[in-house]
Amino acid sequence: MLKFLAPFQGHVEKPPPIWFMRQAGRYLPEYQTLRKKHPNFMERCFSPQISSEITLQPLRRFDFDAAIIFSDILVIPYALAQDVVFKEGEGPLLSPLSLSTYEKSLSFAAFSEKLSPVYEALQLTRRELAADKALLGFAGAPWTLALYMLEGKGSRDFSKAKTEAFQNESLFSQFLEMLTHAISLHLVRQIKAGASAVQLFDTWASHCPDSHFESWIVNPTRQIVSTVRQSYPDIPFIGFPKGIGANLVTYGEKTGVSALSLDAATSLSWANKVFPSPFILQGNIDPLLLAAGGQPLKIAIQRACEEMKGRAYIFNLGHGILPHTPLKHVEECIAWVRERA
Ligand code: CP3
Repeated sequence: MLKFLAPFQGHVEKPPPIWFMRQAGRYLPEYQTLRKKHPNFMERCFSPQISSEITLQPLRRFDFDAAIIFSDILVIPYALAQDVVFKEGEGPLLSPLSLSTYEKSLSFAAFSEKLSPVYEALQLTRRELAADKALLGFAGAPWTLALYMLEGKGSRDFSKAKTEAFQNESLFSQFLEMLTHAISLHLVRQIKAGASAVQLFDTWASHCPDSHFESWIVNPTRQIVSTVRQSYPDIPFIGFPKGIGANLVTYGEKTGVSALSLDAATSLSWANKVFPSPFILQGNIDPLLLAAGGQPLKIAIQRACEEMKGRAYIFNLGHGILPHTPLKHVEECIAWVRERA
């Protein structure tokens, strides 16, 4: 019934299922209208009606095969009692947190209650969504969440967070374990509320040094996949460890994910050789190429579809869609994939 799930059941779909990271968001005029009416980002995330409406917006306009719930990776720190606000033009700001005091500052007491609007939004959305469309849940990976939580904001190099991690590796490992537990719970509950698949965003995986890749990225991720699979053994699980180069091999082999979302710099022919079907690959059109549009986009689509021909594949971008992306390019991109594949 769900075209999106075919690759996870061992079928090669032709054309492949299509969805875009950040497909719900600022490039849509109807999102901008809602954003003016509800200027608080966290309010948009935590109102089930608004979140569900934003999730459905891109599906009304475009024939994507999946909707992704409108939320954020930073709802987890918020639910653990770290303050999170989104400042216009600045991105997220979190209240100060350090490894030596996190156990006192954070709390699981209201965790489930605070996240319950997300599950309500999933239930609402599943009811509204056409039966042939998948609904994706997601969470940030422990490493990426830890960086935001200890840094307090986005950063070019996350130097404050990483310095703390290096200076107290055993406390940092405990911190990652606590996050691993929180993330597993959040994913299980999203699936229970109607998510047909989940994606784990490790957006800042490229900041993890190779020496700590197994302990800070691979092991926590494997733990999450295995905990989620204890409740939902067959759940399609997509990993997105952005920018890790050859460490994708270790990540793909050791974490237990069913699919890898590839960033735009990853060679498709290399990934195709290293991860033959039935392993699933997703990606990896450069979001700026989609924003630029025209012939170069068409050529990139053709190339990706040619490379991924005959294998388990989900068409997507290499990272989130950019706010200045013209709607026409999204329309054309979907049409070109369906023509070429
Ligand atoms: O993919 C989707 O459509 C679902 C929704 C989604 C959002 N954030 C909505 C959002 C998802 C999957 C995320 C994940 C997320 N959030 C990541 C990982 C993937 C990625 O895109 O890098 C990260 C690092 C965050 C943290 C975050 N949220 C930042 C750094 C920012 C501010 C910068 C930015 O890109 O706007 C956000 C805000 C955010 N999350 C917006 C949306 C639609 C923009 C909010 C607005 O200004 O209206």
